[in-house]
Amino acid sequence: MNPPAASAPDWAALRADFPILDQTVHGHPLVYLDNAATTQKPRSVIDALVRYYERDNANVHRAIHELSYRATTAYEAARARAARFVNAASPEEIIFTRGATEGINLVAYAFTSRLRPGDAILVTEMEHHSNLVPWQLLARRTGARLLFVPVTGDDGLLDLGDLDSLLARNVKLFAFPHVSNSLGTINPAAELCARARRQGVITLVDAAQSAGHLPMDVQALGCDFLAFSGHKMAGPTGIGVLYGRRALLEEMDPFQGGGEMIATVHYEESTWNKVPHKFEAGTPDIAGAVGLHAAMDYLDAIGRPAIAAHDGGLARDAYSRLAAVPGIRLFGPPGERGGLVSFGLAGAHAHDVVTFADQEGIALRGGHHCTQPLWRKLGITATTRASFYLYNTPAEVDRLVEVIRTAAEFFGGQGST
Ligand SMILES: Cc1ncc(COP(=O)(O)O)c(C=O)c1O
Repeated sequence: MNPPAASAPDWAALRADFPILDQTVHGHPLVYLDNAATTQKPRSVIDALVRYYERDNANVHRAIHELSYRATTAYEAARARAARFVNAASPEEIIFTRGATEGINLVAYAFTSRLRPGDAILVTEMEHHSNLVPWQLLARRTGARLLFVPVTGDDGLLDLGDLDSLLARNVKLFAFPHVSNSLGTINPAAELCARARRQGVITLVDAAQSAGHLPMDVQALGCDFLAFSGHKMAGPTGIGVLYGRRALLEEMDPFQGGGEMIATVHYEESTWNKVPHKFEAGTPDIAGAVGLHAAMDYLDAIGRPAIAAHDGGLARDAYSRLAAVPGIRLFGPPGERGGLVSFGLAGAHAHDVVTFADQEGIALRGGHHCTQPLWRKLGITATTRASFYLYNTPAEVDRLVEVIRTAAEFFGGQGST
């Protein structure tokens, strides 16, 4: 389980743990609000990476010499830490990947032999392309079709009225985001998994936007797979986690072939290593796993419930205050939400708004946020997104609202997004 935090976090002191934040951009103090794309890294993560490369670096497994032993121990300790981070039943259920995208592709590839024409894969209309395109490829390989849980509209909720009948349409796998990267919606993951399980449907939770923000317990969620990326939760780029229920991992075909994933190799054929190594071909990102370990320790020392309350609170505050800006169109639920806000401003393209804010030292993101079909459905092409993390402050929300208000005046409230 996720350990409780000792006391209320000192957010100002925590902010000082992130060296990159202490700089000016275009003459203004940096306000970094692009955390849904990638978060910044605390000193403890940076130090862990440096320490690993300065003292312990070697290749892992078949460890005979001392450095190889240390590297292997550190890598497997990170796996055990990741198991605790999501409350997996054992470290064997943790596969290290490059990130959420690779984890989802791994499952989609392994399911090639499990689907037939006439089967269906259920996803939602709010998917990041990473949790849509791999299923499109799987459908193309197998003759299965894709079905979609609808999104209600600008308020960005899933319309779950027909979920049970959708699941009954020969669905073999249901993949959905825990938190939407475009809308900020927090989906009822445990309920979705329970409804799928009642119909024998396997579930995959895309936790890219939730793992570093919300308490995460795969056994309580009741999911079969859960994927996330280290770089969106204070860890390094290039490392991520796929949790998989052990019985399923045992049955699944490997994703990639190469070193580490084999038991025996002959010229004509091979046998596979045990899980999780069956899914980790080649030299893994050892330093990345070490850095991710440090990031998980860092987050749990604060406590994910406190982080969720903090960045969700900033996002709710930003949402309600931005609603008063003339010409703004806000997306996602007005109430409880993950730590981000997405909006369009009449008369300005999202890229213009982001450029305007950048001149004021504020880092936002503008575009389709890898959810093109969702925006097409809602009748726009791009939004501006502000996304928060544990080091952001109420004063930064003030600054955001002030700059967006000025941008609305500057762009004159004409035209459309
Ligand atoms: C909801 C969601 N899923 C998947 C991804 C893909 O993550 P990565 O690019 O780290 O693999 C992202 C990245 O923005 C995301 O927001």
